[in-house]
Amino acid sequence: MQNVPQEYYCCEWINSGLHFQTTRLGFCCYGNQSIGDHPTVVEDYNGEPIDENIFGKIRAIKQKFADGDIPEGCKNCSYLRKSNWDGLKEDYFDHFMIGHSQKCNSRCIYCFTNDVPEDIKDRTYNAYAVLKKLFDENKIRVSPMACAVFLGGEPTIFPDFEDMTNLMLENNFPNMKIHSSGIYLSSSVLKGLKTGQISIVISPDSGSREVYEQIKRVDCFDKVWANIKSYIAAAKDEKQVMVKYIVIPDVNDNKEEIDRWFDLIVESGVKYIACDVEQNWFYNCNGEYSDKMYDLIYYINDRAKNLALNIEFYTAAERMLKKVGENDL
Ligand SMILES: C[S@@+](CC[C@H](N)C(=O)[O-])C[C@H]1O[C@@H](n2cnc3c(N)ncnc32)[C@H](O)[C@@H]1O
Ligand code: SF4
Ligand code: SF4
Repeated sequence: MQNVPQEYYCCEWINSGLHFQTTRLGFCCYGNQSIGDHPTVVEDYNGEPIDENIFGKIRAIKQKFADGDIPEGCKNCSYLRKSNWDGLKEDYFDHFMIGHSQKCNSRCIYCFTNDVPEDIKDRTYNAYAVLKKLFDENKIRVSPMACAVFLGGEPTIFPDFEDMTNLMLENNFPNMKIHSSGIYLSSSVLKGLKTGQISIVISPDSGSREVYEQIKRVDCFDKVWANIKSYIAAAKDEKQVMVKYIVIPDVNDNKEEIDRWFDLIVESGVKYIACDVEQNWFYNCNGEYSDKMYDLIYYINDRAKNLALNIEFYTAAERMLKKVGENDL
């Protein structure tokens, strides 16, 4: 180990995180890669075991943070903080992002995977085997802080999804968050909802079959809401199941559709909801957002409060609200 100061600027992801991407092994999916480099462990990754060579690369990146050499793409990241980090004292992981396939059983009009070439979409690898070896070698620290976020593509249809989540459940991994289309009812998710180790976020973005099909371009409206009910019935705590509405200009941006979505929320017994605005629209606005979108966000917030539902604003909507100083709605 080289020189390690008592305290230095770093984040949980560099300290003890791993991000399984379709073609790369990284640390996180945050940062601003458009302004500079963003730490990657292996550029062309295909599920190779994490051996001494890879640990060496990880240590070298951690050391750069300890030396105060922060990559441009990490500067201004809200996860950076000065602390007494322990990641250079021991090789271990307790934070995971798992998104090693872009395949999906939905075809959402707004999704970035629409632009992913088919040969990349078809690519995946066995991340279960990588995790299993890490568990066997005691390289995964199962503290209450440990967390794994599953994204994609559609995580519940990763070929190794059930094996991975079951492995983590058996090893008492405490927090797994699954972002899902809700189309496939996963038995390990049901199991983890019962034990309290898994939570799930589903974004139907609509309250009617017509609008659902316009956004998702698959015929799964009834299935998704039936699966939401099954997940709610299994959950140890109602906060483990969150259902989201992404407001998409000219598609679902009207109070009638939002009301129909709220009717289904109430009927399904959902107590935790989330709201966002479509990200491509958000970035194209360059900070100038329409009154109509603000009006709809406030409307969703008011309806949630009146129905005693807990509401969370996701990134883009949260930033819109911050701009007008109303992030504490
Ligand atoms: C890319 S998805 C992958 C996981 C899963 N298939 C899903 O849809 O939940 C991760 C999250 O990003 C959200 N998302 C994807 N594209 C978006 C967009 N253009 N605007 C806002 N949210 C988006 C999804 O709703 C989901 O919560
Ligand atoms: S500082 Fe931010 S962008 Fe950089 S690795 Fe950490 S979480 Fe990711
Ligand atoms: S369900 Fe998720 S990954 Fe699939 S198309 Fe929709 S946003 Fe993209």
